[in-house]
Amino acid sequence: MTTLDTPLSILGGMSANTFLRDYWQKKPLLIRAGLTDFEPPLEADELAGMAMESEVESRIVIEQGKTPWQTIKGPFTEETFAQLPEQEWTLLIQAVDHWVPEVQELKERFRFLPSWRLDDVMVSYATKGGSVGPHYDQYDVFLVQVSGKRRWQVLAPDAYQDQAIEDIDLHILPDFKANPEQDWELEAGDILYLPPNFAHNGRALDDDCMTYSIGFRAPSMQEVLTGIRDQICEVDNEKHRFSSPSDHEEPHHAEIHHSDISYLQQELKAMIDQPEMLADWLGTYMSEVKYPEFHGDLNQEDTQASLEDALKGVPFFRPGDARICYHAAPDSALIQLYCNGTKIEIDQALEPLIHAICDQVEFDFSTLETDKHKDILPMLSFLISKQGVVHLPAEE
Ligand code: SIN
Ligand code: CO
Repeated sequence: MTTLDTPLSILGGMSANTFLRDYWQKKPLLIRAGLTDFEPPLEADELAGMAMESEVESRIVIEQGKTPWQTIKGPFTEETFAQLPEQEWTLLIQAVDHWVPEVQELKERFRFLPSWRLDDVMVSYATKGGSVGPHYDQYDVFLVQVSGKRRWQVLAPDAYQDQAIEDIDLHILPDFKANPEQDWELEAGDILYLPPNFAHNGRALDDDCMTYSIGFRAPSMQEVLTGIRDQICEVDNEKHRFSSPSDHEEPHHAEIHHSDISYLQQELKAMIDQPEMLADWLGTYMSEVKYPEFHGDLNQEDTQASLEDALKGVPFFRPGDARICYHAAPDSALIQLYCNGTKIEIDQALEPLIHAICDQVEFDFSTLETDKHKDILPMLSFLISKQGVVHLPAEE
């Protein structure tokens, strides 16, 4: 059984515990040969093909383009590629896991971290000298070198000035003074972990440089506050108003008394002192799908038909971009299960089933003992209707 102390090959033999304690959200980690058994599912021309599709989010960065660090957004045509310079450009494709099921396999290797924080897998293909410029991200990211070589230079947040080159689309740091202690050449199989706000400059050292970025998102406190405010305003109403008690010494009629402020503080504290409401916001927010425009719920009829297939043993799988997470309050008999932005409440007794669904990728539900608990069928039906589990496509 894998525990948090088990050495993990993706961490070069380090355990999840050590990684979480010493590196996660703290400092970079270079992992030599962390991923040597991964067969990249996409060739460069397949990536170029994806970048021609209108639904796929793609961009090309050319260091010496019409402007410095020129960025062009996809979809592209054959002509775009024909007009690119020989070298020093990068093609980037966002959320490849959304389109390419094989990339799901890679995401599954990062289960030692909270899966509800995993955003997507971005793939870059660069020609020699290609770089997207020195920059920082708000994400924790694992930069996996999948083919070719790339040199990464990294600076801690307090080791660079956060300025940006003016009049260009990207936030490129103009004055990136590399630190020789954090200057590495990555070969296929090597991985570089970077916490948020660590500046990095990656430059392709050859013509077939492919990097997969596994990004972990965290909501900003601005997003949290806005979301929680919206959530509170849905249930609070106009009648709940500021009504500070005036039992203090007579203030001047023009004075906003400090007791008015204490009153406001208490009211606001009470409004956010609702862990279940906070959990509900977080679960809903973090499980929202990345591309709502490409995602629909199954209607009742299709859900029912799929449920029947599932129970007959038709193979199902959990798609790589399905966002499933849950919250079990310590003093509650219920679990809130979130799938792709929606919630169902089920009995805590079904926690092992939730674990199985989040740990496995393919399913044969014919062995599920649905009569063991009244919540099993509603839960499965919910996951099917939200496309958290879907029919496994037949092999071609
Ligand atoms: C790249 O793959 O070239 C850029 C990835 C990143 O900087 O996050
Ligand atoms: Co970056």
